[in-house]
Amino acid sequence: MTSTVVNTFASTLPADDAHPYRTGAWQPNHREWDAFDLEVEGEIPADLEGVYLRNTENPVHESIGMYHPFDGDGMLHMVSFAGGKANYRNRFVRTDGLRMEGEAGEALWTGAYDVAANSKREDGWGARGRMKDASSTDVIVHNGIALTSFWQCGDVYQMDPTTLAEMGKAPWVGQFPSPTGVSAHTKLDEATGELLIFGYSTEQPFMHYGVVDAQGNLVHAIDVPLPGPRLPHDMAFSTNYAILNDLPMFWDPAMLEFGAHVPKYHPDMPTRFAVVPRRGRTEDIRWFEADPTYVLHWINAYEDGDWLVLDGFFQHDPSPAKQEGMPKMMSLYRSIDLNRLQARPHRWRFNLVTGETREESLTDTIMEFGMINPAIAGKDYRYSYNMTGKPGWFLFDGLVKHDVQSGTEERYMFGDGVFGSETPFAPRAGFGPESAEDDGYLVTITTDVNRNLSECLVFDATRVADGPIARVRLPERVSSGTHSCWTPAAHLGRSL
Ligand SMILES: [Fe+2]
Repeated sequence: MTSTVVNTFASTLPADDAHPYRTGAWQPNHREWDAFDLEVEGEIPADLEGVYLRNTENPVHESIGMYHPFDGDGMLHMVSFAGGKANYRNRFVRTDGLRMEGEAGEALWTGAYDVAANSKREDGWGARGRMKDASSTDVIVHNGIALTSFWQCGDVYQMDPTTLAEMGKAPWVGQFPSPTGVSAHTKLDEATGELLIFGYSTEQPFMHYGVVDAQGNLVHAIDVPLPGPRLPHDMAFSTNYAILNDLPMFWDPAMLEFGAHVPKYHPDMPTRFAVVPRRGRTEDIRWFEADPTYVLHWINAYEDGDWLVLDGFFQHDPSPAKQEGMPKMMSLYRSIDLNRLQARPHRWRFNLVTGETREESLTDTIMEFGMINPAIAGKDYRYSYNMTGKPGWFLFDGLVKHDVQSGTEERYMFGDGVFGSETPFAPRAGFGPESAEDDGYLVTITTDVNRNLSECLVFDATRVADGPIARVRLPERVSSGTHSCWTPAAHLGRSL
């Protein structure tokens, strides 16, 4: 292995930092590396060809007020695989906010757990306003370009998916009518090359939906009128429809009048789904109602005769109560603990003829961050690959392959003190229409606080419980984070 530190960012975080989401598995990275021909335990399959990308949150400066783990600056970690070898790079996303705070030598904006009024600058990003667009939430590769986005809406930053060179902002965001830009998550349909997008804001109509074509042109955008400001985080699609949502978890309207953005769950209100043909107009939107919940992520959607089927993670307790005796810091972050939220795979069925909604839980297992084989996104499918959470924390302690047709589950636990990342499916090189849906691999990066290191693990997707078939050593322990993606080499249009 050859590894080089190519940049070091000057951090102003306190040396004795004790914040639970800036230490341990969440200790931020401030160095940027290039590392080639990484050391491997086991064997990297010769037919694993592509790029794994992971976005993470890495605060550089002490926060103004309370720090939330989603406030940190976006950093991509890249592991590329070809010919049985692996390379690694990591780079901060060069956002405007990162640059401006770097020049100031301090944080300029408050995060999700403070109020906009305490930001040092009047301007900023996000549906809340006066936030930093950290571009730290999602990563996806579209039209050969890695795109990062932020959960509170903002710009979409472009990077080369293998060199991680900055490529500026996606130009189509400026044409999208949402005043706050684009939200994580954008959704890629490999079948058409289209990217489906949405944005939300506190201004009427409160949500917009759009389509970016395979060449990176915004070709469709419509209003999705809502009854008021909402907090959607994800959308879904089938072959013919886009599905957006109006969930009964949103900023308390009474508090909003005083400039305070306090999410409040309304268990007396239904969950509402907007079903619209992918190139449909506002007038074509059909609304379906279901039991109240909050859903962070959808798994997949597909059409089945008159029915539109949607799978996602139903939170059985979207607003967990404080628990007696729980440490204050742990109590504060209970709303990002999958186990407190009781997030479980769930299926909604919308009848496009009668307007009927049916719904059912798919398993009792608490898990989230589901990935599928992207080649069948929007179509009937069998397998999802999901993360389980360490109780009390936003940390992934295990991986579950869920057969949504038979209901069986196969599990791998990373071990005490070892945490994985979102784990996408990597189809075997040459994967085609005749291949089995799970003919490929699963790739994840671990943060091992016991051994103070990180590995990129490769699993055979047909034998998850057997554990990784290859462990690739990274040059430095990487912080935990949020979303990841896999892009086959064939989609990059270049050799690795
Ligand atoms: Fe997300």
